[in-house]
Amino acid sequence: MNKLLIEGGQPLIGELHAAGAKNAVLPILAATLLADEPVTLSNVPQLRDVTTSRALLERLGAQVTLHEPMTLEVDTRSVDKFCAPYDLVKTMRASILVLGPLLARYGYAEVSLPGGCAIGSRPVDQHLRGLRAMGAEIEVDAGYIRACCSGRLRGARLVLDLVTVTGTANVLMAATLAEGTTVIENAAREPEVVDLGDCLVAMGADITGLGTDTVVVRGVPRLHGTHYPVMPDRIETGTYLVAAAITHGQITIHGTRPACLDAVLLKLQEAGAQIDTGSDWIHLDMQGRRPQAVHLRTAPHPGFPTDMQAQFVALNAIAAGVGTITETVFENRFMHVNELQRMGALIRLEGNTAISTGVAQLTGAPVMATDLRASAGLVLAALAARGTTVVDRVYHIDRGYQGIEQRLTQLGASVRRITG
Ligand code: UD1
Repeated sequence: MNKLLIEGGQPLIGELHAAGAKNAVLPILAATLLADEPVTLSNVPQLRDVTTSRALLERLGAQVTLHEPMTLEVDTRSVDKFCAPYDLVKTMRASILVLGPLLARYGYAEVSLPGGCAIGSRPVDQHLRGLRAMGAEIEVDAGYIRACCSGRLRGARLVLDLVTVTGTANVLMAATLAEGTTVIENAAREPEVVDLGDCLVAMGADITGLGTDTVVVRGVPRLHGTHYPVMPDRIETGTYLVAAAITHGQITIHGTRPACLDAVLLKLQEAGAQIDTGSDWIHLDMQGRRPQAVHLRTAPHPGFPTDMQAQFVALNAIAAGVGTITETVFENRFMHVNELQRMGALIRLEGNTAISTGVAQLTGAPVMATDLRASAGLVLAALAARGTTVVDRVYHIDRGYQGIEQRLTQLGASVRRITG
């Protein structure tokens, strides 16, 4: 099994170009099932989750062609199977995103139940409730969701009980081919949902209200092919910004969207970083200083993203002062705290709040990655720590960070991938 061996203590200094967004490309790949012509996607990140999505589309019968390293063409005209099986869903919960598109286009879909994961139970009730309201008949049996509808789905007014990103994406995609108008209330406003919506519009969908909590979709009989560039990954950008901050370094990230990172940039400024931004770049400079501890609460967009929580827990671990971080989106997303404690961090968990008293120095230790963003937190802590850290189960990181060791090495870090 792959591990990352990190020698900490180097300030990260340099420049990077942001990769395409994982959480945008996954729903967009699922959306290709709605089009009756090939869809070409550029700025596709090279990630394990993209490989899994590609395998899933191919399993359904789609033709997927890689034109350049980051351009994929998906032709779903040959789709003749409608099942997302357990062996793929268990490695990527986002496989649930094919449910809405398969149902809307072919009238039938079977998707293995994603079940729980390291960060909580993560139910899909809102996805199913929305699709049922649009006329789908859905049963859950033997670990599978089986959904069908006769003729087209029907537009409906949906009020989501809570803000769900993939839940919004699933019903949004289904609604594009429904008969009549669908109104999604309490819709997720995440930039990746907007990017999905923009891609659907480029495919001929009629959608208004993207980026607000009321999205209106007027169903159309068909969607056509398009060429769409996937937006940059704000969480990847945020993670590298914290990598520079935690090591007292400086970094410029190009090809990114500062406006999607308002809450994160604000907290980095509170931590003492000097931040400058242009239309598509962000420069962060710690001027060699140790960060100050910050207080934050995660929340749906435009609040502070839960996907940046672990990275800020790592930052607070070595910052000056006491910082509190409250997780409100997921029930069990502090698996990194135990591992950080093994590196010498002083963190106390009180319910869903991590209270850290920053230490001057963490110490390298063998640690275990438990989920994608928790692993990112551990890598950041390792970059700041004295000595060697070995991060086990790197496959979690490879789900969401393209070439992490090359990118960190480019910034001056000492990072090596080892097997065994
Ligand atoms: C997406 C992101 C993930 C991010 C999360 C929150 C993708 C592929 N993944 O995950 O990186 O951490 O948004 O920003 O885009 N919930 C229900 N019922 C449902 C659906 C969700 O109770 O039917 C709950 C979840 O358990 C969780 C909360 O709603 O507590 C938010 O989850 P959701 O936004 O759906 O997360 P994902 O879409 O799975």
